[in-house]
Amino acid sequence: MVFKRLREEIESIRVRDPAARSRLEILLCYPGLHALFFYRIARWAWIHGFTLAGRFLSHVGKMVSGIEIHPGATIGQRLFIDHGTGVVIGETAVVGDDVTLYQGVTLGGTSLHKGKRHPTLGDRVIVGSGAQILGPITVADDARIGANAVVLSDVPAGVTMVGIPARAVGPGRHTKEFLAYACDAELPDPLLRLIEGLHQEIEDLRDQVAHMQNPTVDVDGTDIETRRPNVDVRAATRSTRKGVSNLT
Ligand SMILES: CC(C)(COP(=O)(O)OP(=O)(O)OC[C@H]1O[C@@H](n2cnc3c(N)ncnc32)[C@H](O)[C@@H]1OP(=O)(O)O)[C@@H](O)C(=O)NCCC(=O)NCCS
Repeated sequence: MVFKRLREEIESIRVRDPAARSRLEILLCYPGLHALFFYRIARWAWIHGFTLAGRFLSHVGKMVSGIEIHPGATIGQRLFIDHGTGVVIGETAVVGDDVTLYQGVTLGGTSLHKGKRHPTLGDRVIVGSGAQILGPITVADDARIGANAVVLSDVPAGVTMVGIPARAVGPGRHTKEFLAYACDAELPDPLLRLIEGLHQEIEDLRDQVAHMQNPTVDVDGTDIETRRPNVDVRAATRSTRKGVSNLT
């Protein structure tokens, strides 16, 4: 049972970390794995009433790995804490399955709440380095938290949050596929953004040229007298649009 779980965890790290070269390297050099080892023993002591022993083992785990996991926290399967230094997981935090945390993440409490004071993370959540998730909030399945974000309210499933206080970016993508460093590597998006930017710039330049050639055409491409788009500009815009749609 213990070895099966260890094998599973090593395998899940191998899949998620592009820097991992071998299973032995993961076993020897990954503090996230070592922290989980101490957490499991500390957790056993904690739930069997040996709370001081639990806290002490958690402290030893922190000295070895640089990662502090309170034995009261509930941790799911295959948690991957990459690099790890400075990660703190508070007493009433709940972490789902296949979650990834990078260094410096805090799943912390606030003095505003008693009892459950720490966040709950759903399955496959990815939290970027230095992010602070504070209070008894819920970060739902497949959400991604950007590096250094400070999250103070619930995060819906599949949404990406950045900034202080964190705000959602993009429409959200409910994917179960792991994204290394939480970055969405789907190429069409940045490429499309670039093309759309260039397209807009070409349209503006065409309007300015039309204005220089014919002063009755305004710089925004409309005919000054009729306030309608200039016909030549409209035709040029249509041909540019066609070019863009052929590209994408
Ligand atoms: C937030 C994150 C998940 C977004 O990745 P993505 O889906 O690929 O999104 P993009 O890079 O297209 O960024 C989307 C927008 O968010 C902004 N953004 C990205 N990361 C940000 C961050 N950490 N803080 C603030 N804004 C950020 C981008 O500038 C972009 O803004 P724009 O739309 O105005 O241009 C990713 O940037 C991130 O922070 N990952 C964590 C990486 C990490 O911790 N690495 C440590 C490994 S050791």
